[in-house]
Amino acid sequence: SIVYLNGDFIPASEARISPMDRGFLFGDGIYEVIPSYHGRFVGFKPHIARMQDGLAQLSIDPALNLNDWQAICQRLLTDNQHFNGDNQAVYIQVSRGTDTKRNHAFPANIKATVFAYAFPIAAEPVADKSKATTYNVVTGQDLRWQRCHIKSTSLLGNVLHYQQGYASGAQEILLFDKDDNLTEGAAVNVFVIKNGVIATPPLTTKLLPGITRLLLLNILRKHSNIKVEERDISEQEVFAADEIWLTSSSKEIAPVLKVNEHTVGTGEVGDVWLAAQQLFSAHKY
Ligand code: PDD
Repeated sequence: SIVYLNGDFIPASEARISPMDRGFLFGDGIYEVIPSYHGRFVGFKPHIARMQDGLAQLSIDPALNLNDWQAICQRLLTDNQHFNGDNQAVYIQVSRGTDTKRNHAFPANIKATVFAYAFPIAAEPVADKSKATTYNVVTGQDLRWQRCHIKSTSLLGNVLHYQQGYASGAQEILLFDKDDNLTEGAAVNVFVIKNGVIATPPLTTKLLPGITRLLLLNILRKHSNIKVEERDISEQEVFAADEIWLTSSSKEIAPVLKVNEHTVGTGEVGDVWLAAQQLFSAHKY
């Protein structure tokens, strides 16, 4: 496959990054994952805006604007389509760059390292109960840091939580803060539905501002009369929910059927999910 590295499009087998890169030594960088179906990106602008925001918070400036990113990402889709097929995501990683020594302080005058590649993803999710990919999850205390709103490449906290869920036989983990309020999953945002009302935790430094979350909230508010709330959600509410959904760029909206030993609602994919996924499929571009 063809990848982008620091201005060049080159075969993946030829891409080289120094072990002195701060992305490798410190996890000092920002990443992004943008899905596309049949050559069209979902949420391209908000994905790039979130990345620019994260980079600005870390004072990393790769000197690329929205048009530059558009050109890089579109070319990766085109150049890799024969290899990956019609449904591809682009992964972007920008690190602070490569230094000559390992030093915690930001080095002066180094150039950011910019890497991007395209990889195949599953077919576009469809609004059909019998075709939904469903999840079983467990719960746990959120032990990550206090800057979870930054899409940092330092993902050890998320990796350990994901593995915690996986080791318990689940495919994700719902995380709760010290006050027992829901934050998010290891790699997803979370929605809880009760009596036809959709709720999701508000944007704070405790969770990633997911683009799927953003698009879904905007679509529900614009194209439906379903009540949508951004508010704190207790652990008790999670166990009593009629439906629970996980959202991410690769999953879109995925129903959860089990939390620990509890069955969620009827134990089947819900009607509110069907309505939401229909609206999302119709308006996400
Ligand atoms: N994960 N929360 C966390 C901690 C995440 O890592 C992600 C995305 C999300 C959902 O965000 P979005 O809707 O923008 O994909 C929420 C990506 C896909 C990953 O790490 O691969």
